[in-house]
Amino acid sequence: MESVKRIKFSFNKPVGYMYLYDRSDEIKKLSESESAFLLGPLGIGKTSLLKSYLEHKMCNALWINGERIRNFNSFVNSLKREYSKLLKNRLAKSAGQFSELNAPLLEIESYKEGKSDRYTFLNNFLDYLAFISDQKICLVIDDFTEIRKIGPAFLDISRAIYKVLKKRKISILLASSELGYAREILEKKDLPFKKVFSVLTLKPFGLEVSFDFLSKGLEDYGVSCPKKYIGDSYYVSEGFPLWLSLIGLRMLEGKCAPEGIYTDKRAQLFWVERLTKLSVKEKYMLRLIAKGESYRLAGPHSRRVLNSLIRRGYIIKNKQEVIVDPVLQYLLKMELI
Ligand SMILES: Nc1ncnc2c1ncn2[C@@H]1O[C@H](COP(=O)(O)OP(=O)(O)O)[C@@H](O)[C@H]1O
Ligand SMILES: [Mg+2]
Repeated sequence: MESVKRIKFSFNKPVGYMYLYDRSDEIKKLSESESAFLLGPLGIGKTSLLKSYLEHKMCNALWINGERIRNFNSFVNSLKREYSKLLKNRLAKSAGQFSELNAPLLEIESYKEGKSDRYTFLNNFLDYLAFISDQKICLVIDDFTEIRKIGPAFLDISRAIYKVLKKRKISILLASSELGYAREILEKKDLPFKKVFSVLTLKPFGLEVSFDFLSKGLEDYGVSCPKKYIGDSYYVSEGFPLWLSLIGLRMLEGKCAPEGIYTDKRAQLFWVERLTKLSVKEKYMLRLIAKGESYRLAGPHSRRVLNSLIRRGYIIKNKQEVIVDPVLQYLLKMELI
């Protein structure tokens, strides 16, 4: 891969290929595998990597955002919207047969008229995608495991994905920060996603990469901050691109101390918004763990609550339970949120 041309510090806005820093190995791995399941906590750069990869490969992609899917119909509507967009922008320029290109849309219409069940519809739809001339189509489902919230239809989606991938005619890219749920799906016995996906776990930037990311970025903007602060940034962010970007942004604003992100409204709001999706007990348990106390203090069913937090990717369990995100850990410990 050619070297990265620019650095952009943007908070919680995925970057494209032009600004993708230090992920050339990952881009290479994605290129080598037909279909991949990307794992990694929030803010590690999954969406940025997917977006950049599609740009790099110039793939005709249907992009589904799992977080936005409320029910099966909204999934179908997203497919329709994305396919229509693709048809308009790219496929139209191809030599494909009109009827061939229209087949996926007709399949959606016939599903909406009640002529087929969910699973049959999806199978046909994906099959049609696979057979569209020689143009490779990528189906991307970002935050894939969030779709589980729609209930049994999620199983239909998973089964159809598994089936089409066994035929290896289409490229499917999934991403999830809900590590526990993602692992369960990958390991399922009756639907072994592990066999059809290469699993790619995104890691934080290392010490040196974090340092270079910030110092080169500052240089690009003609701003300087003391080296000590740039070095300390790795320890505050633990190399999460999301937090390094916020630290970089703040440095551009003239605020060099990396610890400043703890009291930065953008960081606090990021977590406050996400925590609203958790139950009272889950939030209580997160606070206990942040303060180094036993999760069992959360009372009855504490084991179940802990498992839910692990499945949703908030916590990992080594010898002890730890909060995955370094900023969330600090904010809860210091009761800043
Ligand atoms: N490789 C990268 N190079 C530069 N910035 C990145 C990179 N990966 C992530 N970022 C930054 O980190 C933030 C979070 O990235 P995102 O792709 O949304 O993570 P995720 O999808 O894993 O939650 C974005 O604001 C983006 O600017
Ligand atoms: Mg994302």
